[in-house]
Amino acid sequence: MLEIKGLSVAIDGKVKLKDINLKVGPGELHVLMGPNGSGKSTLAFSIMGSPRYEIIGGRILLDGEDITDLPMEERARRGLFLSYQNPPEIPMVTYRTFLLNALRIWGKEPEPERIAGIFRKLNLGDEFLTREVNKGFSGGERKRAEMAQMLLFNPKYAILDEPDTGVDVDSMKLIASTISDVLQRDIGVLLITHYARILSLLPSHFTVHVLVDGSVRAEGGPELAQRIEERGFEGGRF
Ligand SMILES: Nc1ncnc2c1ncn2[C@@H]1O[C@H](COP(=O)(O)OP(=O)(O)OP(=O)(O)O)[C@@H](O)[C@H]1O
Ligand SMILES: [Mg+2]
Repeated sequence: MLEIKGLSVAIDGKVKLKDINLKVGPGELHVLMGPNGSGKSTLAFSIMGSPRYEIIGGRILLDGEDITDLPMEERARRGLFLSYQNPPEIPMVTYRTFLLNALRIWGKEPEPERIAGIFRKLNLGDEFLTREVNKGFSGGERKRAEMAQMLLFNPKYAILDEPDTGVDVDSMKLIASTISDVLQRDIGVLLITHYARILSLLPSHFTVHVLVDGSVRAEGGPELAQRIEERGFEGGRF
């Protein structure tokens, strides 16, 4: 279980998240929605342990162990994964080198054949592995490469920050089927999205959490996502 207990976060002394409570169990799908700037990515980075985000209250537990004060790499080693809303470029480092290094750091076997197989599964040919990380990748290619990382690292819990934004219909299906696959493998997923469309391609049992102005204002089932799709946030009672 990934447990967020009463989490409050500040950036540069300004409070951005207030008293967030969230539990993601193995194999569960949780969906985080909310207006632009409401704090969704801030929550994702805070759970992952990005040092720019100051925890001013609450705890984060991973399978019962308090990880609130652990560095990012240690959280990753223990089974947390974050796919970025805006996957960063890493100049002068090929994707293959980047992935092999990450695997080495986390004490996992470097398996070049497996990496290539996973990339192909995400419709990314071998040439992507010899290119600099994300440099010149299209938006959809970047998002699919993030999904490839998730399959490769095989985490316990995956936080996916808008994997469906800016991707074409075929990529959306590929990304959704990848998420369905990892859910079946008992990986818990916290999916941040603006659109009900990807949810229609995923298993229908999920919980929606609506973040507005740094607080969770509503929680519910798939019907809540549908309501947001139809009426937006202003039209709702958030
Ligand atoms: N590193 C940072 N420095 C300063 N302000 C930040 C930083 N990160 C986030 N913020 C601010 O915190 C607020 C929440 O941003 P966040 O990126 O979490 O929103 P979001 O819900 O992910 O929005 P979107 O739907 O547009 O991705 C915004 O006002 C943003 O400008
Ligand atoms: Mg965001």
